[in-house]
Amino acid sequence: MGSCDGRVALVTGASRGIGRAIARRLAAEGASVVLNASRLGAHGKLPGTLEDAVAQIQAEGGKAAAVAADLGDAASRSDLVARASEPFGPLDILVNNAAAARMRLPSECSTEDRNLMFELNVNAPVDLAQQALPAMKSAGAGWILNISSASAQQPALPYRDTRSSAWIIGPYGASKAALERYTVALAHELAEDGIFVNAMGPVAIVLTQGADYVRDIARRNPDMVEPVELMAEAALALCTGRHVGQVVLSRELLHAIGREVRSLDGKQVLGDAFLEADVEATA
Ligand SMILES: NC(=O)c1ccc[n+]([C@@H]2O[C@H](COP(=O)([O-])OP(=O)(O)OC[C@H]3O[C@@H](n4cnc5c(N)ncnc54)[C@H](OP(=O)(O)O)[C@@H]3O)[C@@H](O)[C@H]2O)c1
Repeated sequence: MGSCDGRVALVTGASRGIGRAIARRLAAEGASVVLNASRLGAHGKLPGTLEDAVAQIQAEGGKAAAVAADLGDAASRSDLVARASEPFGPLDILVNNAAAARMRLPSECSTEDRNLMFELNVNAPVDLAQQALPAMKSAGAGWILNISSASAQQPALPYRDTRSSAWIIGPYGASKAALERYTVALAHELAEDGIFVNAMGPVAIVLTQGADYVRDIARRNPDMVEPVELMAEAALALCTGRHVGQVVLSRELLHAIGREVRSLDGKQVLGDAFLEADVEATA
């Protein structure tokens, strides 16, 4: 018996990185998982496609389907939950993971870059939650997890890395701060309906293909890096538990609840909240 047996989940931004890891972990626990990204196949230079993420989950014995939609475009995402409910039925779990990060000085961040980040990082998660709520309310149960970032807070002094790296993450962090505030409000509104809404981020860096530009920061500050398995395990905990309006870091949540961390296919116990990352590895 898996902790997600019989449940249907939609994970956005699941062609690679943290979203793909969360989709694999949910599938390993028995969820039927619908994976979203902007396209089905390859595009640009980044590895990882929806098609091969679905094939990987199926090869691991899980149930998965792909639905492409550009979440930065309101029209493209307007029927995503309806489309995602076709393969396996109405959603029990929504993981809003897809995001855009533009590293810009706050004094210079353009309207275009701010619009992209706020559209994808704030408006898309809210729209998808609103689309998913009617089915969750009629089922009397549901889980919504918004993937955030420690950058929602100004880093403590002294900065662990350079001053400029603390500055340029600010506009992206502002979008995640907005997401966190919305998450808490939504969580308190919906708790009585049996719908559990939370936000969670990594302690700092997960070395995904899309986050490769931060590898130099990771080498200088290996304690800022965490293995993607911590994000996946903490996401699983928040998508099966009864937490309300938590805004947490994955390592801290896993430590607080004393949870062991399993491999993404669920087959092995890797360790606990103190599991260390390989700074040269890519999720
Ligand atoms: N990695 C980190 O160190 C880190 C730290 C803090 C927080 N986070 C948060 O964790 C989440 C995942 O980060 P990540 O590093 O795993 O990201 P990533 O490797 O860059 O992957 C991003 C995913 O989002 C999808 N995506 C991008 N634009 C999209 C769009 N317009 N519509 C639909 N899907 C789109 C990408 O697929 P396509 O390109 O194929 O569309 C991909 O599947 C994000 O919310 C991020 O803010 C990450």
